[in-house]
Amino acid sequence: MEKISVAAARKPEAIGKQVRLQGWVRTRRDSKGGFSFLELNDGSSLGNVQIVVDGTLPNYESDVKHLTAGSSVTIDGLVKASPAKGQPTEVQATQLTVHGGADAEGYPLQKKHHTFEFLRTIAHLRPRTNTFGAVTRVRNRVSQSIHQFFQEQGFYYIHTPIITASDCEGAGEMFKVTTLDLEKLPKRAEPGQSGTVDYTQDFFNRPAYLTVSGQLQGEIFACSMGKIYTFGPTFRAENSNTSRHLAEFWMVEPEMAFFELTDNMELAERFIKRILGDVLRDCAEDMQFFNDRIDDSHTILATLQGIVDKPFLRVSYTEAVEILEKSGHKFEYPVGWGRDLQAEHERYLTEQKFNCPVILYDYPRTIKPFYMRCNDDGRTVRAMDVLVPKVGEIIGGSQREERLDILEQRMQEQGLVPEHYWWYLDLRRYGTVPHSGFGLGLERILQFITGLGNIRDVIPFPRTPGSADF
Ligand code: 4AD
Ligand code: MG
Repeated sequence: MEKISVAAARKPEAIGKQVRLQGWVRTRRDSKGGFSFLELNDGSSLGNVQIVVDGTLPNYESDVKHLTAGSSVTIDGLVKASPAKGQPTEVQATQLTVHGGADAEGYPLQKKHHTFEFLRTIAHLRPRTNTFGAVTRVRNRVSQSIHQFFQEQGFYYIHTPIITASDCEGAGEMFKVTTLDLEKLPKRAEPGQSGTVDYTQDFFNRPAYLTVSGQLQGEIFACSMGKIYTFGPTFRAENSNTSRHLAEFWMVEPEMAFFELTDNMELAERFIKRILGDVLRDCAEDMQFFNDRIDDSHTILATLQGIVDKPFLRVSYTEAVEILEKSGHKFEYPVGWGRDLQAEHERYLTEQKFNCPVILYDYPRTIKPFYMRCNDDGRTVRAMDVLVPKVGEIIGGSQREERLDILEQRMQEQGLVPEHYWWYLDLRRYGTVPHSGFGLGLERILQFITGLGNIRDVIPFPRTPGSADF
């Protein structure tokens, strides 16, 4: 008896095989002829396999007739060509074992449509829904593509730390990591210092945080190993309760020695196209579902294919601001050179103006972190953001400042203490090289791929302000 997945049992190649299937019942329908149909799912594909259970099975009356949605079963049977439309196969059960029933009254996943908000409150059961099963498979495929893309090109996967003392983005949005008892914080007794926390009593002897980015440590390895990438969880304590922000999200950060900004853009574009191409090819059934059932305009498949086939646009920040100013469009937030672009501005550019992904580059130095390379104009830095329709920014990156004196000056400009970053500055003291990198938000690209409006629906267990259940 071969144990196979539901996905495998749905393929015509399985016809004629005696198999064992294990999973959860989605529906049961009893026929007048004294037999029943079950729809079985095990997570291996969006579609279920139909099981035909004959009334002659010894436990037909005692077990099969009581099966409800959510029950777990093992089924042995023969895969046959199905006479029904829309499914090539079905399984004629020869034996059925029930592992656990699911009380029909209590089981939260009823056949009716559930809102995504409701499903978030049952994060322990939502992977059993069509939408979240599809998200999970696509998320897995994207993660695999990320590793494949970089590994095939000689990048090393570096595990950068989760706990860190430095604020890479300088935005002060870090979660503190401490073993101090917050209820009885030790106070320093020095005059004028009373009330400040004595971090020498803390685990690391200094303030420590959850990382907002692995970039600074990634640069260390790029400046010795050449091309590296990190791929791990990152944490931001920004109190923005939006559909595009999580307090814990996954970021992919490649960092390359001897790469200038244009090399960085070229890599980012190839990277995104590779991910989209892989998903379109290998997750066809799930992508069709997102196209037909999630995206109101039913254009996801066409949009993604269009992006794979066409070059991305490259537009400087200065040009973008001019376009926005001349657009005549009424924005909620003001537009002006030197101001950061808001989601509505990004969306105007990608949706109304260009209708394709856009790489914006050369942003004002005052709105970007200290590590970005200064341009000769003294006003802008070699930053790049990749923007896509509906989601806005999915990648942020830059060429890094490799000149020691300018970097120190930039740190002071932004109120950072260069001595705290002595190791980062050493990379510029000893064998400095031009280098670049970027960060792709995994959940942002998943939002783009699936068409799901809320970022909380593309991560298994979302963490947002006021919410860290499960
Ligand atoms: O633009 P960000 O802040 O860039 C960095 O962190 C750089 N250190 C990356 C680098 O150059 N190595 O973040 C990068 C990406 C964003 O473009 C966005 O896709 C995602 O991370 N991101 C978030 N995703 C979900 N929730 C949040 N709160 C996010 N903040 C950023
Ligand atoms: Mg950014």
